[in-house]
Amino acid sequence: MCGIVGYVGSQQAAPLLLEGLGRLEHRGYDSAGIAVLGPGKESRLRMAKKAGRVRDLTEELPKRFAGRVGVGHTRWATHGPANDLNAHPHLDTKGDVAVVHNGIIDNAAALRAELTDAGVDLVSDTDTEVLAHLIGRSEAETLEEKVAEALARVEGTYGLAVLHAAFADRVVVARNGSPLIIGIGDHEMFVASDLAALVRYTTRVAHLDDGELATITAEGFTTYRRDHGGVSAVPRTATEVDVDPAAYDAGEHESFMHKEMLEQPEAAERVLRGRLDERFGTSHLGGLEMDARDLRAIRRVKVLGCGSAYYVGQMGAGLVEELARIPADAEAASEFRYRNPIIEPDTLYVAVSQSGETIDTLLAVQEIRRKGGRVVGLVNVVGSAIARECEGGIYLHAGPEVAVASTKALTNMFLGFTLLALQLGRVRDLSIADGRRLVAGLQRLPGQVAEVLAGEPDLVAPAARLAEAESLFFVGRVRGYPVAREGAQKFKEISYRHAEAYQTSELKHGPLALIDPRVPTVAVVPHDELTDRNVGALHEVAARGGPLVVVTHAEVDLGDLPSQASVHRIDVPRNERELDPILLTVPLQLLAYHAAQSLGHDIDKPRNLAKSVTVE
Ligand code: AGP
Repeated sequence: MCGIVGYVGSQQAAPLLLEGLGRLEHRGYDSAGIAVLGPGKESRLRMAKKAGRVRDLTEELPKRFAGRVGVGHTRWATHGPANDLNAHPHLDTKGDVAVVHNGIIDNAAALRAELTDAGVDLVSDTDTEVLAHLIGRSEAETLEEKVAEALARVEGTYGLAVLHAAFADRVVVARNGSPLIIGIGDHEMFVASDLAALVRYTTRVAHLDDGELATITAEGFTTYRRDHGGVSAVPRTATEVDVDPAAYDAGEHESFMHKEMLEQPEAAERVLRGRLDERFGTSHLGGLEMDARDLRAIRRVKVLGCGSAYYVGQMGAGLVEELARIPADAEAASEFRYRNPIIEPDTLYVAVSQSGETIDTLLAVQEIRRKGGRVVGLVNVVGSAIARECEGGIYLHAGPEVAVASTKALTNMFLGFTLLALQLGRVRDLSIADGRRLVAGLQRLPGQVAEVLAGEPDLVAPAARLAEAESLFFVGRVRGYPVAREGAQKFKEISYRHAEAYQTSELKHGPLALIDPRVPTVAVVPHDELTDRNVGALHEVAARGGPLVVVTHAEVDLGDLPSQASVHRIDVPRNERELDPILLTVPLQLLAYHAAQSLGHDIDKPRNLAKSVTVE
């Protein structure tokens, strides 16, 4: 989604802002812009913005663009098309105020009408422009009060950054439902909607909470809470983030997705590190902040996430039910709060999110808490909104994930769920022997993920063949069904092919009618209690000429498939049956990746998609 950067210090702002915007490109955007406050007492505001890429803006930036205070933005169109006028920043009528904004102002239409009646000439179709005018028209004394006064008129979500020519030493920022992070440098300060834009300059950060504002000047920052139309200061301590800036560079890899897929073995080791207990066959999850008695009191587990996080959540719910014998299910967080869900005191709600900023998941968490439910998070980004909103949780330690198509974070979500299910199981009926069996399986798993990744060259050709089809099925059963769903999701995200996931058992209840030589099926067939039935379904597909790619285990006998059938078999190493789903998922990532590559797509910037979805 949209990205924000801001700078105040002794360096020229424009190059830093453009560099920062480049680092946010992965979030998805369709236009970009920057504004700086020029030098001198009578500070002038300079602004440049453009539909298209950050590099287009850079190429066309006017020569005279000096200023040591500035803000920048990458826009993802919501109100009005992606064009130069709708790009941010937006200015007030006098050209003194510049605003960049992430989020959506819900009452923008009413505010636009009110401003038009008052004689204001609105030049864009956006909701954001009203903010620039409201701030410009405010008669409050300080910039912080002007911004607070404008925000008091606004309903909706925002992360925003404001420049004002009359307050040329500062950037004022505000947050409500859209992330903003302050970066603390040496006599210089930064602000960004994503750590990716900051880490090359500083790893010392402060987070803003919803309802807060902050002022950054070259010498520091002050945070405020909106208060009866004004502001009152609130203390905030900065923290050091443990992140390697190199994680935000693709290095020798042709894309971030490729780099992040290959990072999975080490990422998996990190999420397990220090959390496994071989002796008692269990896990230790201090972050949950629940003791054995609390864990035993749980009668149901409900997992909430969006997109791939929801599909891994489904794998996780299956694990909890299997290992802990507690009823568990997963639901799309985007639907949850709109059906007025019953929140039960003895249910453990688990919010799962890589970014920790997905608005649908965040709003579901808030709804649960409002109704007195207990919610913990499985989150990758430390200090993110969902992580802070939850009562406890499990950090995923996957490291920064830049590619829109999530890979290593999903693997770590699965492992996070395994740790949770193990702990829940071991305070119930899961035996110490089974606990130890699973701990040993988890210890083997990072190495097995590496084995699957080593098979990448063998997947290039079958992936390219799959890419030729306009439409594909991904099928699996029980533990394999969420694997198929995630496989289809990854495939469609980056190859733009229609990929539909089905339970293998449901094929004959409808979709079999679509099977012919033009419609391949990617089947997930682990060596388990359902192997024979799965294999039977493959024969039905092959008999109708449907090409097959089968992700399976070496022990599985596919039987005598018709000699003319097109079958490609991918064997993955076996682990304990409960842990197999993630090993079966990894080849599906590789297939999606190489299918998209064979089609020449920009893998890290899939069309119409963004890394974190911070608007409903
Ligand atoms: C994954 O490849 C997708 N880009 C998407 O479905 C993602 O998982 C979803 O938007 C949830 O994101 P989150 O994990 O940051 O909450």
